[in-house]
Amino acid sequence: MAEYHERVATVATDILSAIQEQLEKHNVTHSEYRVAWKWLAGLAESGELPLFLDVFFESVVERLTHDGKPGSQGTVQGPYHLPDAPLLTEEPFVLPMRDDEPGEPIVFTGSVRGLDGSPLEGALIDMWQAGNDGTYSGFVGDAPPGNLRGRIRTGADGTFQVRTIRPAAYQIPAAGPTGEFLSLLGKHAWRPAHFHFIITAEGYEPLITQLYFSGDRWLDAGDGDVVGAVKDDLVIDVREGDDPELASRYGLTGPYQIAEYDFVLRQGDANVS
Ligand code: DHB
Ligand code: FE
Repeated sequence: MAEYHERVATVATDILSAIQEQLEKHNVTHSEYRVAWKWLAGLAESGELPLFLDVFFESVVERLTHDGKPGSQGTVQGPYHLPDAPLLTEEPFVLPMRDDEPGEPIVFTGSVRGLDGSPLEGALIDMWQAGNDGTYSGFVGDAPPGNLRGRIRTGADGTFQVRTIRPAAYQIPAAGPTGEFLSLLGKHAWRPAHFHFIITAEGYEPLITQLYFSGDRWLDAGDGDVVGAVKDDLVIDVREGDDPELASRYGLTGPYQIAEYDFVLRQGDANVS
């Protein structure tokens, strides 16, 4: 049997009271309760419980944990991270993708540094993203396992460079219970296009974050991101690439884009985030 846990009891008791108060306020009937009961059981069965929780609650606790701290801003991890993404060791780094991967080529480049600006050599960048159709490999769609997921390390000067494709704006799958719920609430299901990162380095707090692209329709603070996870500091400008040497390094013959970001980590415990 589990033992009494003061923190769980304190928080959970308040959450339960809040729900009970709302049931009373809205005179929820026994048959309405049964409909919701069935829907929640179906949510658990569908495998979308992690998605549902992240959509409605992760950005709240992420902000409570990290806002106001120095260094790069974090944001939600979301439900689509997979451990053990391919570790890329051969430069130039290219995220694993299909030969005919749709989407505009983009070279993402930058550095990982400490708060004092010192470059962090060998920092591990775990990167994942949706494809040009807004789906994540291993979850929805037909991309092979590991597609558009990879881990790279920074070089001696703390810099990195990786080629990928520009992700598309993402929609919570409409067919599942989470999408159904959003429709019932009259909410759209869009997130702005984004890259995901978990960045780790010895002696530093892990940084879980995302980068968004300026001009995206779904960045709007009013009716944008359904998950509410955008922070201004995480919106980057993308420019057209015009460097023939860079293009030839990646075998790019057509137009491509360049995005840059310098990640700044806080010193601390590797297990605290
Ligand atoms: C969520 C986050 C994502 O990055 C995503 O692609 C989908 C959902 C989320 O926090 O729910
Ligand atoms: Fe995502």
